[in-house]
Parts: sequence; C-alpha cells; structure tokens
Amino acid sequence: KIIILDFGSQTTQLIGRRLRELNMYCEIVPYNHFPKDASDVKGVILSGSPYSVNDETAFKADLSEIRGKYPVLGICYGAQFLAYTSGGKVESGDSREYGRANLGSINGNDPLLKGIEAGSQVWMSHGDTITVLPSSFKIVASTNDVPAAAYHIEGEQTWGVQFHPEVFHTTDGTKILDNFLSICGCAKDWTPASFIESTVAELKKQLGDDKVILALSGGVDSSVTAVLLNKAIGKNLTCIFVDHGLLRKNEFEKVMDDYEHLGLNVIGVNAKEKFYRELHGVTDPEQKRKIIGKGFIDVFDEEAKKLKDIKWLGQGTIYPDVIESLSITGTVIKSHHNVGGLPDTMKLKLVEPLRLLFKDEVRRVGNELGMMPNLIKRHPFPGPGLGIRVLGEITPEKIEILQNADDIYISLMREWGLYDKIWQAGSILLPVRSVGVMGDERTYDYTIALRAVTSTDAMTADWAQLPYDFLAKVSNEIINKVKGVNRVVYDISSKPPATIEWE
Ligand code: XMP
Repeated sequence: KIIILDFGSQTTQLIGRRLRELNMYCEIVPYNHFPKDASDVKGVILSGSPYSVNDETAFKADLSEIRGKYPVLGICYGAQFLAYTSGGKVESGDSREYGRANLGSINGNDPLLKGIEAGSQVWMSHGDTITVLPSSFKIVASTNDVPAAAYHIEGEQTWGVQFHPEVFHTTDGTKILDNFLSICGCAKDWTPASFIESTVAELKKQLGDDKVILALSGGVDSSVTAVLLNKAIGKNLTCIFVDHGLLRKNEFEKVMDDYEHLGLNVIGVNAKEKFYRELHGVTDPEQKRKIIGKGFIDVFDEEAKKLKDIKWLGQGTIYPDVIESLSITGTVIKSHHNVGGLPDTMKLKLVEPLRLLFKDEVRRVGNELGMMPNLIKRHPFPGPGLGIRVLGEITPEKIEILQNADDIYISLMREWGLYDKIWQAGSILLPVRSVGVMGDERTYDYTIALRAVTSTDAMTADWAQLPYDFLAKVSNEIINKVKGVNRVVYDISSKPPATIEWE
C-alpha cells in the first residue's frame, strides 16, 4: 500500500481517490501517525497543508524512518517541508502562486515526469516558494514563476512537486502519480473484486460464529455492507429496516423486496404510528430531527433485544466519515455512529467493512456483488427522510401529499434520463397556502418546491439546470394529480450559502 501523510490540506482526500482510481490501495493517516507495522508499505506521499513551514504551529513530521527507506513524493507543503528540513529556504513569495501554470522546462529523463510534455498545465496553490534548494536537490521541472516546480533528491527515491498533481486542473497529474507508483514498484491490483475477496475472508476470520445486527436504510452504503456481511457470515447476520412513515412513496415495500431478492435476512418494522404520534405538533427542525433519531434507536433497540447473543453492530461507515473523524493533531480517533449513539447497555462491537472506501468505490463494489442498479445508483436520502422535507408541523396527510408529488417528480426524472446526472433530488412541502383557480373554483392550497443539485460530496452543491420542458411537465402533472397542491416552484439556490435540505 501507499501511505499518505496528511498535513491538513483540503485536497488530501483527492490524492487518495486518484490512487484508488489507478487501482492502488492507499491509506490516509495523520502526518505524525506513520504505521508501526509498515511491512506492506511501498511508498509515502506527503500532502499539502494550510500552514507555511515557517509557522510556529505548522505540522512537523519526523521523516527519519521514512526518507531513504521508501520512495517519497512531497506535494506542495510536503515538497517545501522536505526542502526546509534539509537546510533549504522557504519564503512567502511576492507573486503568490495560485492557479494555473505551465511546466516550461522538463527533465525528460526523470522517472517521475516520464511522458510529460513541456507546456503541461499544473495547478498551484500556495503562498510560499522554495527560494534556496539544498545542494542534493536537483530541479526536474520549472514554470515561469517557480524555478523549483519539481525536484528530485540525489541518492534517494525522493521527489517534491510544488503543484498539486491530484487536482483535476493539473492535466497530467494522474500520469505523474502513476509514474510515482511505478517508481514504488506497485502491482496496482486493487479492484472491487479483490476488495470483496479479501474483505469477506477478513470478516469470516474476525466474526467467526458471532452474530451481527445491522440497520438498513435503503441507501447504498448500508445495503452494500449488508451484502458483504451476508456473503461472509450468512444467517448470522440480521438486518433491521425501520419504516418511520417518512420514506418515499412505496419505498419500504420496494426496498424490502430488493433485500429479499438479495437473500438478506431482514426484519421490516412498521413504526409509522409511533413516529407520527411523537412528532405531532412539533415544528422546530432540530427537535424533529432529535425525535426521529431517538425514535429510530428505540425501535432498533427493541428489535435487537428480541434476538439472542448478538455481539456485533454492522455499520455502513465510509472513508470520508472516517477521515473527518481522524484528529490530525492528536490521537483521538472516534468512530462515526450513523445510528447516532446506541444505548450503552447494548455493548456491541463495531464492524465496518466499507470504512476504507470512497462513495464511488462503494458503488463499484455493489456492482461487482451483482446488486441491482436501483439500490446502487440511488440518490442520497437523509435519515429523517420526508420529516425534514415537510417544513414545520408533520401530519400523515401532508406526508401523503409530499409522497405523491415527489413520486411524480422522481419518476419523470428517471423517464427523462436525468436521474443519474443529478447528485440528489427531492420535493419539499412548504407550510404556506396560496390562492389558485381550478376550473371555475378558487383553490387555497399548498406549494411544492422541487430541489435538484449537482455535487461530488454534498459539502458544496449547485442547483441543477434542469430543462424547462421537464420542469413544465413535472409542474403540470403535480398540480393536476396531487390534491392539495396548486403551485410548484424550483429552488435555484446553491450550497453554500443555502443547504441541500431545507430544514
Ligand atoms: P445539507 O442539507 O446539510 O445536506 O446540505 C447534506 C447532505 O446530507 C444529507 N442529510 C442528512 N443525512 N441524516 C442523514 O442521514 C440527516 O439528518 C441529514 N441531514 C442532511 C442531505 O440529504 C444531503 O445529502
């Protein structure tokens, strides 16, 4: 594997993604947590950082056990850190280095830059420049403003690049990372199939004859987790799927059906009444979330108690959750609890087979496992479901109106071939009524807002430029077919400053 030492850059995750796209297994660890058992490490990458190496508080790693032992690639801050700790000088430049630049001169014999042509576009993002290079550091590429855009350290398999090869705008970035993998002598055989094989073997070893319980949500992550666990331990896995009455129209039945086809042992629990009762009269979004979250745990706990000898809780935690919860400054490594704080009395150990995968890899694994596309390609859907899409007070009647409108919207989106182009789409029922006219009658009904966004990680999102013809069709169908709605609007806000959900 390749170890990526994370010095806190926003693009560290991207380095990991690029390597995985090259079928290379890698792990991102805090800059000061190089693994103790490094027998399978083939190379090390040092990430960028928000700091300058000259800052008192900058992250400083001890590289004495790394340099000279493994091939090393320093990126941006990583490159500056190598120079700085070898007696070079790093200073904040007059011309700050942000954005596009082109590699002017390239040493064609350098293995890191093999096959890269002069003029290749790279992306810079740092306020500092290396102004004095230690004597063993040889420049292998320059740009107009940055003499040491890339260097190699003589006598070592160590390189530094001032630009970011992992970002999209560095045109040959993936090629450079691939060259680094060749230098490391990596086999690049990490594929969904190999992941499944090794994970199932590990799960068998880890779990033995123990019993595992898992909460399914209908989403990609929990579904793929269930299928993997099922492959490893079969009937010792019990899944629980709770219908809180806030799912999409017919979602519970459809998903239960899919799960049965997958051969999963699923207990479906209809808890609609409980949730509607507890949510009655509540309008505050945070309070609604709390009630729904706690209600979910109550139901899960009650079902789990009926089962005997459960030792493990399966969870669909994925890599971005894990990376976010790794503390870069210290040793605290906490796990994300998707089910949100289970009662201590359950005392279950966690098993999280997807914890090292990115979302797109989870989808590829699901595909390889033969899961149906409607489970794998599904848009993200929030845990509290339509509970946070009926703004204000929730009633069963309002949920039904929203389910019907949303069903028209999403079905048409699939029909028009738009579903897979959108990160996430949904409908919102607004708590206002307005006047309309239908036939000869005055109406005084609700408004439905349609939301559709493009995104890669839900951290930022842009409203999707859906075709007018499509919006016209959806609006027409909803107003004509869904009783209680006389107006449809389209949300054209991006995140930030808005959020994807309205509550
Ligand atoms: P926002 O609204 O914060 O949403 O832009 C970002 C992403 O997170 C989803 N979301 C949730 N998912 N429980 C979840 O499991 C929640 O309480 C929750 N709130 C928001 C949202 O659908 C979007 O994909």
